[in-house]
Amino acid sequence: MATKIILDCDPGHDDAVAILLALGAPAHIEVLGLTVVGGNVSLQGTVTNALRVLMLANREEVAVYAGCPRPLVREMVTAEHVHGESGLDTASGELLAVPKTTAREKHAVNYIIDTIRQSESKSVTLVATGPLTNVAAAFAMAPDIVDELKQLVIMGGAFHEPGNITPAAEFNIYVDPHAARSVFESGAAITVFGFDITHQMRITPARLKSIQNNAGRTGKVVADFLDFFNQYDMSKYGWDGAPLHDPCTVAWLIDPTLFEGSQMAVTVDTTDGPNFGRTVADWYAVTEQKPNALVISHGDSDRFFELIIKRLATL
Ligand code: BDR
Ligand code: CA
Repeated sequence: MATKIILDCDPGHDDAVAILLALGAPAHIEVLGLTVVGGNVSLQGTVTNALRVLMLANREEVAVYAGCPRPLVREMVTAEHVHGESGLDTASGELLAVPKTTAREKHAVNYIIDTIRQSESKSVTLVATGPLTNVAAAFAMAPDIVDELKQLVIMGGAFHEPGNITPAAEFNIYVDPHAARSVFESGAAITVFGFDITHQMRITPARLKSIQNNAGRTGKVVADFLDFFNQYDMSKYGWDGAPLHDPCTVAWLIDPTLFEGSQMAVTVDTTDGPNFGRTVADWYAVTEQKPNALVISHGDSDRFFELIIKRLATL
């Protein structure tokens, strides 16, 4: 049976691929709805981009819900320096078509709560590929849903790897560390894909070409926007391609044999100073802290990209 997911995202190039991968794998994933949060760009921009991506996939019937425009406590931080002004800029300069649809009336946080409450117990998986504001707000408003969720799959954090927005912090966690901390302390069944794994999944020139040539009509558009996405990381870090962070979450749900990890205790540092927003994992169980997350550390990058290309080609 397909895994029912709510995808909470801030598209964003890699979020866009996560959405498309989920839509391209109907035997494994049923997308109940997209909930959107402010992150890579403003909420208005991330909602527009979610609608654009659905239009690209000819799946405008999938419902989009706008969520929180800003973090719980701190001021908003965005990432136009990585994703461009639109949040989904392309190398060719031709943006994805303007959506004909709009977000639904309901707030994303209410949608998350209502959907989990109205579904069979432990049948819904929440996937979070942006700042954790919507998820934290839902857990705070309706703590009963934490145990009703099947699982929460997060892209966020950096354990052994350095950060990308401060030396210590990964962007999604840094934007709303207070939300992230409350989510990691919630007791939800969490699987987390941080930089330790996502940095292994780089969009090399050969992979970009393969997306362009072998992933059909959608692949051509995806290659154009990933070509833009590659530019910042390649010039900033000297890598052979940007890491394709967010789709790791969905790929794991489709084929768990692609990745490996271990259960451990993860905490989020919300104290002021250089470690603000840092995720700390008790890798060697040196404390008595109870494990609260499956931390993914290894994966097969070739098979990961093969899966993406195969699934995009079906859209
Ligand atoms: C994360 O931040 C965003 O820029 C990406 O979409 C990804 O979710 C990587 O730090
Ligand atoms: Ca994201």
